[in-house]
Amino acid sequence: MKDALLRTGPHPVWLLGEEYDAAHITCLVAYKPPAGLMVSLPNLSLLHGTGAGVDALLAAPDLPADVPIGRVIALELSRMMVHHVLASVLRHLRRGETYAAQQREARWVRHPPRDIAAFRVVVLGTGAMGGAVLAALGALGISAQGWNRAAGPLADALHGAMVAVVLLPATPATRGVLGTTALTALADDALVIAAGRGGQVDEAALLRELDAGRLSAALDVFDAEPLPPDHIFWRHPHAQVTPHIAAAPHPDAVARCVLESMARVARDEPPLHPVDRARGY
Ligand SMILES: NC(=O)c1ccc[n+]([C@@H]2O[C@H](COP(=O)([O-])OP(=O)(O)OC[C@H]3O[C@@H](n4cnc5c(N)ncnc54)[C@H](OP(=O)(O)O)[C@@H]3O)[C@@H](O)[C@H]2O)c1
Repeated sequence: MKDALLRTGPHPVWLLGEEYDAAHITCLVAYKPPAGLMVSLPNLSLLHGTGAGVDALLAAPDLPADVPIGRVIALELSRMMVHHVLASVLRHLRRGETYAAQQREARWVRHPPRDIAAFRVVVLGTGAMGGAVLAALGALGISAQGWNRAAGPLADALHGAMVAVVLLPATPATRGVLGTTALTALADDALVIAAGRGGQVDEAALLRELDAGRLSAALDVFDAEPLPPDHIFWRHPHAQVTPHIAAAPHPDAVARCVLESMARVARDEPPLHPVDRARGY
């Protein structure tokens, strides 16, 4: 990140741990700054996240009240998320879990292909990530519908859907949003893809559905990260676990957003991709 910022911008850059003069720091780029760091920087004019989600930054107890906050929106990032989600959607469409289980038992059994006309995906969150996923699914001829704050009740949107993709920011309003009622609305044999933040899918309610063999899940984010080694999700036959790797920001993309936002703030304009503190994302 430091290299990318130095390569593309005119500003000196210090890494945490290096010796710096606090009065010189006007922009802090951080995922989860250590407590006390922000209050120790008297001349901050921009706070910038290292990725799309800034929940850890917003939750910092010493978050200054009047400093604008920017986040990363970049093609590199949304493409990674598209690839992550498509991998699981296509695996489910093509009965990947079933055939992987059969391969382990050397069983040659052909199942009818899923009916693509009845295969509907609902994407929770229609922002930078969700919007890109919706476009990619549409381009593959897969029926996909977005859900956001302007949409109706979630259970109505999910009714009979074969896949729910959670790409929401972590806010009080999105906590536990995919609970028993929403999960029950999904079709039998549906897939839940969690790639927003931990806490949005009610893990206990999901586990009941996985245990019953009614749903399967591709989980990238969890209530507790790292997922503890003894957690049932690691070994569950209907769960696929990845360690929060769906979309990692490329340093060049972060540098682009940071440098453009610094230039804008210097002109008394908002950052390139401003965070709305009241909304929480
Ligand atoms: N797993 C990973 O590796 C990874 C990588 C990147 C991002 N993420 C996560 O993905 C999240 C989304 O990123 P993004 O860039 O797409 O965010 P974004 O552009 O801010 O979009 C957020 C979307 O969520 C919707 N939303 C927010 N609160 C809602 C609520 N209470 N009910 C219904 N919809 C709600 C918004 O609805 P409106 O349109 O109505 O505002 C918007 O469509 C990030 O915050 C981050 O947590 C995870």
